[in-house]
Amino acid sequence: MTMDKKIQIFDTTLRDGEQSPGASMNLNEKMLVAQVLDSMGVDVIELGFPITSKGDFHSVSRISAILKHSTACALARAVQKDIETAGEALKNADNKLIHTFVATSPIHMKYKLNKTSDEVLELIKSSVTLARNFTDKVEWSAEDASRSELDFLYKAVELAIDSGASVINLPDTVGYATPDETFKMFQSVIEHVPNSHKAIFSVHAHDDLGLATANSLAGVKAGARQIECTINGLGERAGNTALEEVVMAIKVRGKDQGFYTDIDTTKITQASKVVATSTGISVSRNKAIVGANAFLHESGIHQDGVLKNKETYEIITPESIGLNKKSTITLGKHSGRSAFKNKLDELNIELSEDEIQSAFEKFKELGDQKTTILDEDIFAIISSDYKEEEEKAIELISYNVTGISDEMKHTYITLKIFGQEKTIHTSEQGTLGSLFSGINKLAEKNTQLKEMQINALTEGIDAQAYSSVIINYDDKLITGSSKDTDTVTSALNAYISAINKVIKFYGAC
Ligand code: KIV
Ligand code: ZN
Repeated sequence: MTMDKKIQIFDTTLRDGEQSPGASMNLNEKMLVAQVLDSMGVDVIELGFPITSKGDFHSVSRISAILKHSTACALARAVQKDIETAGEALKNADNKLIHTFVATSPIHMKYKLNKTSDEVLELIKSSVTLARNFTDKVEWSAEDASRSELDFLYKAVELAIDSGASVINLPDTVGYATPDETFKMFQSVIEHVPNSHKAIFSVHAHDDLGLATANSLAGVKAGARQIECTINGLGERAGNTALEEVVMAIKVRGKDQGFYTDIDTTKITQASKVVATSTGISVSRNKAIVGANAFLHESGIHQDGVLKNKETYEIITPESIGLNKKSTITLGKHSGRSAFKNKLDELNIELSEDEIQSAFEKFKELGDQKTTILDEDIFAIISSDYKEEEEKAIELISYNVTGISDEMKHTYITLKIFGQEKTIHTSEQGTLGSLFSGINKLAEKNTQLKEMQINALTEGIDAQAYSSVIINYDDKLITGSSKDTDTVTSALNAYISAINKVIKFYGAC
């Protein structure tokens, strides 16, 4: 391969990102994320891990068929069924890549895989060879590469390339490496593996020590030409390398060495909002590039400097990431269908006519509750509107707080349970606690709330609330989430969505 200076961006928000606790997305949410990634010029989108669930298979299969620009990628272990399932899920994609991996570090091979290094080499050969039956683009990852022995890594990489892999990923799976070590690993592997020129090397970092972006750039300096990353740095534990950070670092500081990406950086703000809205995981205010404070100047000295010349304290312009971009269409209660459709175009959201109609009706309902409809509201409508086709066992009809006495909150809640409306009165110390206990009694499920988070998706008093819960049912942790302009309603629906999962997976009582 030539040592071109273009750095491919491989986004794994929908796979490694979705593995972050509480970040699971429904099909529509994933669709929205994929559409913005595709429109911003991401080279490869890892859409999921199809063997893990029917839902993952379905979303990889649906989304891979609609991508216009990006290569669709599916993950598979070095297991025949995984690879065949990934191949099947990608069958309708124009451009597809199977990403298969096996661990190469002594600790993973011994304790996790219970395999010798020769057995792992066998797996590399058979998995990459099998994946090539489904596509000529195969990426092979040496899981826990940063803690692997270099001599073994050389053998493994050479074999993967000989077996047909054209992309070699050397992940820092546990976020342990430093930039110096990352540089040395890539440099050594590229130098010592005789056929390394036949592959592109990819860097995949985790942020456990806050070094993911630095490690990714060190990998590039040593010869990697692909970075694996996620929007907002979402991902397992402390997260993955943040796309917005590496892309902007290359744009602002990589020019001297000639590095560049094909990302339209003016879509970064939109991508960040779509991911925050879809997962309900908001970005911390001081997050690099996309945090709310990233372009605010508080100290008098800084403000004075910026007023005289922005470059005194600003290294990137807000416009370059699409912040403050004037929207051509402002939506409100009186906006019609054609303005709504234009807004969808502006946000690169593609829907069928039926879907537009259904989303438009939801938009009108929201217009009665909010004066200005923001882009985040549109993302929330689209992602929650035509939810997964399944029928819900339980639906919220109404609730009521009737009074407070002796610190107890007295509440009524009415649910539709398998088509039948039922009401219950409960009294507990907290309003939500009382309503949740009513839901448990009506659903006849003994669950305990372990965790609840409520975030505002948009700004202002009429902001939409995103609630997510984790409940314990029979020692199993189940998540639920929901969005609504009313905070209590969003919390109740999040709780009900978790109970619906309990009923779906473990049956009604
Ligand atoms: O971190 C990791 O090692 C991974 C692999 C599946 C590439 O996510
Ligand atoms: Zn990872």
